Amino acid sequence: MKLSPRLLTISSQVTKGSIVADIGTDHAYIPIYLVEKGICPKVIATEIGEGPFKRAKAEVQKRGYTDKIQMRIGDGLKPLKVGEVDTVIIAGMGGLNIIEILSNSREKAIKINKFILQPMVAQKELRKYLITHGYKIIDEESCLEDDKFYEIIIASQGHQDCWDDIWYELGLRLFEKRHELFEQFLDKKISTIDKIITGLERGKSVHAENKLKSLKHRRQQYLEVKKCLQKPRQ
Ligand SMILES: C[S@@+](CC[C@H](N)C(=O)[O-])C[C@H]1O[C@@H](n2cnc3c(N)ncnc32)[C@H](O)[C@@H]1O
Repeated sequence: MKLSPRLLTISSQVTKGSIVADIGTDHAYIPIYLVEKGICPKVIATEIGEGPFKRAKAEVQKRGYTDKIQMRIGDGLKPLKVGEVDTVIIAGMGGLNIIEILSNSREKAIKINKFILQPMVAQKELRKYLITHGYKIIDEESCLEDDKFYEIIIASQGHQDCWDDIWYELGLRLFEKRHELFEQFLDKKISTIDKIITGLERGKSVHAENKLKSLKHRRQQYLEVKKCLQKPRQ
């Protein structure tokens, strides 16, 4: 199974020998890759949608992995038994959907050692949820696929002090380890905010004034982070 850069970066976070659940597996590419490469002895793949469930099941059967990949239909962590897996992957969904999945099955979620989460949007909300609900972000990864950045958050149970708001948005771990894509990621954020500022400056409404103030403040924060990147690490 040849994976795309996004799916490969997610899979590379799985510890060899771990028992994994892939929630919202869709095509089941991650479970197939994990057993094919001998990274996991067993994977549970879940799906809420009947169409993707059937598609995933057919793919697993076609590749001859029905003994190692268990397919279950259902919502989020609900198809899992408490303590059945040590790692949970939730990828390719919105951050708010991921939060809902974790909070709907709190008693199961607190027994999981490692979460590999790849939100498509609302990354900020997801980081904030994790840090304020008994998880800690132990690492982050990023990759570029078709000119789009993807953020992968690795979390475990634990306590972490709350961060400055900017780090919920940018990912402190990516900054701390000077991830090779971080500066590019930051530059993209600055250019997006610049376009919004230009548009609002043309509008000149009272509402736009308030929004402009907060966007300019955010832009300034981005520039400060960028400046820190250039300083030698202490
Ligand atoms: C865009 S696909 C991502 C598939 C794959 N995880 C990936 O990263 O490429 C999202 C999948 O999650 C499933 N899904 C959404 N909410 C879910 C939930 N609460 N429980 C299980 N599956 C869910 C959808 O049916 C869909 O197949």
